[in-house]
Amino acid sequence: MKQSGGSEEQKRRAGEAAADEVEDGMVVGLGTGSTAAHAIRALGERGVEVEGVPTSFESRQRAVDAGIPLTSLDESSVDLAIDGADQVAGDALVKGGGAAHAREKYVDASADRFVVVADPSKEADALDAAIPVAVLPDARPVVAERVGGLGGEPTLRAAERKDGPVVTDDGALVLDCEFGRIENPGELATALCGIPGVVEHGLFVDLADAVYVGTADGVRVTE
Ligand code: 5RP
Repeated sequence: MKQSGGSEEQKRRAGEAAADEVEDGMVVGLGTGSTAAHAIRALGERGVEVEGVPTSFESRQRAVDAGIPLTSLDESSVDLAIDGADQVAGDALVKGGGAAHAREKYVDASADRFVVVADPSKEADALDAAIPVAVLPDARPVVAERVGGLGGEPTLRAAERKDGPVVTDDGALVLDCEFGRIENPGELATALCGIPGVVEHGLFVDLADAVYVGTADGVRVTE
């Protein structure tokens, strides 16, 4: 997968600034990845009285480590979700570098407010990153064929530290699908949703309310 070129300081600034939006009593959607991790840590350090809805096993563990009590969508609705992104262009995002985009999408989309935290390496004029598509394992060949029909080149994501594919927290496999420059993310998002066997894809269109980009000396916020 694409490695982020941003610095840890930039990520930290973005994550901490987003955490500053959180107030006592809120239910917070806890995103996955290294930038969202700064927000989770900052929430714990600030000691605000919140509950968290994790978007992955990873963010669940980070919340436990930060002392943030957990809740679920069965019991609570999310006031504010804070989550990272692999690429940001206008009102569209690519997510799923951590293979958590299925849970991230429904938690982020359900939030009253969804704030993206990123570093400048994630910003682009147009999306051109590979789109992670989570698929039911047995459906992989037919989904790959349909992705090809849409002009994409799918690659099964391999696990980094062992033989075999990446398996998501929900038991899906991930096809990273190269489409080149994506001129109409909304259209592609709809087409990917229509493929039988797709669990969720990593195109997030019109879901974010704000983007916090950590820079060399501050944070740039786009509402
Ligand atoms: C996980 C994600 C992450 O939010 C995305 O990959 C960004 O991660 P990082 O902040 O580590 O660059 O979508 O599925």
